[in-house]
Amino acid sequence: MAESIIAGLLRGRLVGPGQIVGSEPRPERREELAGQYGVRMVASNLEAATGADVILLSVKPQTLTKVGHELGGHLRPNQLVVSIVAGANCKVLTSLLEHREVVRSMPNTPAQIGRGMTVWYATPEVTDEQRDQARVLLQALGTDLEVEDERFVDMATAVSGTGPAYVFLVMEALIDAAVHLGFARHIAHDLVIETLEGSTAFAKATAQHPAVLRNMVTSPGGTSAAAIHELESGRLRTVLSEAVWASYRRTLELGADLENGLGLNEGPDVGKLDVGKSDREPAQAANEALAKAPAGRRRGR
Ligand SMILES: NC(=O)c1ccc[n+]([C@@H]2O[C@H](COP(=O)([O-])OP(=O)(O)OC[C@H]3O[C@@H](n4cnc5c(N)ncnc54)[C@H](OP(=O)(O)O)[C@@H]3O)[C@@H](O)[C@H]2O)c1
Repeated sequence: MAESIIAGLLRGRLVGPGQIVGSEPRPERREELAGQYGVRMVASNLEAATGADVILLSVKPQTLTKVGHELGGHLRPNQLVVSIVAGANCKVLTSLLEHREVVRSMPNTPAQIGRGMTVWYATPEVTDEQRDQARVLLQALGTDLEVEDERFVDMATAVSGTGPAYVFLVMEALIDAAVHLGFARHIAHDLVIETLEGSTAFAKATAQHPAVLRNMVTSPGGTSAAAIHELESGRLRTVLSEAVWASYRRTLELGADLENGLGLNEGPDVGKLDVGKSDREPAQAANEALAKAPAGRRRGR
């Protein structure tokens, strides 16, 4: 993901290679990235962070605490930290880094080809200028949405962050079904990929509700009606909803795990986390906060 951001920033000429310092533990990977992008690569996270205006944290959640302890207490005011680490909430990040100017973001895998969807939240200490810097950085990954309530980042993790996994599973299932019918696998693959891409582009271009588009292809007594009957009998919508809620609960658990690891929680531990469908209140409050967000804060590319 860090490489995707570097590539996107350089491709868009938003910064020059001389303005980027990357840190990476493996010497051969450092050499590879330095050779490919002309950026300076170092072994020490602290060395990379020292003197930087913006610090991007792009390590796995299980590496975060180690890296955080290396940087904690060494950051100076006015440095902006942008994290893309799944589940690491602002409470964890600010406490681990002993630093208040933090942006927590959640991109997704299509970011690797500049077509991602990133939802991000900035702590109140982040200035307007720093928000612009964060926006430019994250737009290197595709479309971005700034939210004014951090709970939306948790929710987005379950929708857009995990979303590609749902889509790939559906893609795989449809390809297998087409193979079962008798298509060669490579043809089944192309039929499904083009159908998914074309349908998405069509929905985007027409801006119609998906139900309207679906009704357009559902003639009385026809093939789509027969297929949709099977999907509804199999509880497709309910299963998808359950999947999103499970992912949301897991996101909160990851955050709680990190908090517990840092001794930040006096109260309920992970096992006692109880977020269910009846827990609508926080979601509603967050929705109201999003609705109040100025339109300029909800920008894509
Ligand atoms: N991939 C996605 O689509 C996606 C989407 C949303 C959020 N995220 C989040 O983005 C973060 C990065 O994910 P990723 O997919 O890019 O993972 P990744 O490919 O494993 O990248 C992590 C990088 O951190 C490096 N690293 C390991 N230990 C380090 C240390 N002590 N100090 C500095 N760097 C270290 C790794 O180096 P080595 O290769 O040498 O081990 C690797 O280059 C994760 O927290 C993930 O939750 C990813």
